[in-house]
Amino acid sequence: MIEFENVTKTYPDGTTAIENVSFSVEAGTTTVLVGPSGCGKTTTMKLVNRLEDPTDGTVSVDGTDNRELDEIDLRRNTGYVIQEIGLFDHRTVGENIATVPKLVGWDDERIDERVRELLDLMDLSRGFRDQYPSELSGGQRQRVGVARALAADPDVLLMDEPFGALDPITRDRLQNEFLDIQERINTTILFVTHDIDEALKMGDRIAIFDVGEVVQYDTPQAILDDPKNEFVADFIGEDRSFKRLDITPVTEVMGPPDGEYAAAIDGNTDATTATDGGSSYDGEALSPDDSVKAALDRLLRSDAPALPVVENGEVIGVVADEHIRASFGRRSDARQGAT
Ligand SMILES: Nc1ncnc2c1ncn2[C@@H]1O[C@H](COP(=O)(O)OP(=O)(O)OP(=O)(O)O)[C@@H](O)[C@H]1O
Ligand SMILES: [Mg+2]
Repeated sequence: MIEFENVTKTYPDGTTAIENVSFSVEAGTTTVLVGPSGCGKTTTMKLVNRLEDPTDGTVSVDGTDNRELDEIDLRRNTGYVIQEIGLFDHRTVGENIATVPKLVGWDDERIDERVRELLDLMDLSRGFRDQYPSELSGGQRQRVGVARALAADPDVLLMDEPFGALDPITRDRLQNEFLDIQERINTTILFVTHDIDEALKMGDRIAIFDVGEVVQYDTPQAILDDPKNEFVADFIGEDRSFKRLDITPVTEVMGPPDGEYAAAIDGNTDATTATDGGSSYDGEALSPDDSVKAALDRLLRSDAPALPVVENGEVIGVVADEHIRASFGRRSDARQGAT
């Protein structure tokens, strides 16, 4: 776990980049720092692996003030994707990715295997391995930067706008890829972006920065449900409800597949083709990972009044307009009641 306690950082020229910042990143989760340019995000990152030290307050890793940790160990154990990519230009892509594994003494065979694995993972052709960073596009270089940071399976991963230079389609794919990786590895991730949609998508928790301070630190859901002040509300934007629909899985709003919906679903259930002996659903359906936004989009384009949610061929629920309204309406009622 990484913990910031009342941290202030003033640079030698007198610029105070952050003031009295406190938040913690739980082990194995992703915390996203989001905010406008110059608000202190990169500075906050650098305080974790001691590229900078705080002027006041403490940054601790697993309960120990990081100034008491061995600096070399700390850096080796902390993958860092820096904002300007920062590849070594005189080293090949393969050598760049192998930097930390080499440093910590992996044998050549293991390094070789790991480099290939990471090139595949980042969707980079294996042919790039012997090329130099200058021969790659900006987006490709960025992916090499991510591969290099992941190479030695660090416990902590600092990612400063890692997907900033990518086109929207590639960014979306890499974000999804990364969410998958994150589920498989147990890395504690601090992720910086200025894009609120990316923050909502990637973060278990989000720290919203205004100049030099954290104005709200919460889960994506809580930030959308209850922005703390006008700055946060403005930062999220007008389409708050859409963003909420986008990060809520259908399983949170779906109703039981019975009553008026049972008949429609039965029509698409084919008991004879089922492999598991039960019935299998073969009509238009949603999967449990689909967002409510995706469900709404499908409902608007479909003739059906409701869509079943199907997992492993089995109908586990249904989503109709009423479920979406009921679920999202309830929250706004509760909020009005509270104020
Ligand atoms: N080495 C430095 N010396 C003096 N001031 C600095 C230094 N590094 C950053 N700053 C200042 O600290 C403030 C925060 O900078 P920082 O790089 O942390 O912002 P950021 O949130 O990462 O911005 P961006 O989104 O543009 O990357 C800025 O005012 C910046 O000018
Ligand atoms: Mg920055």
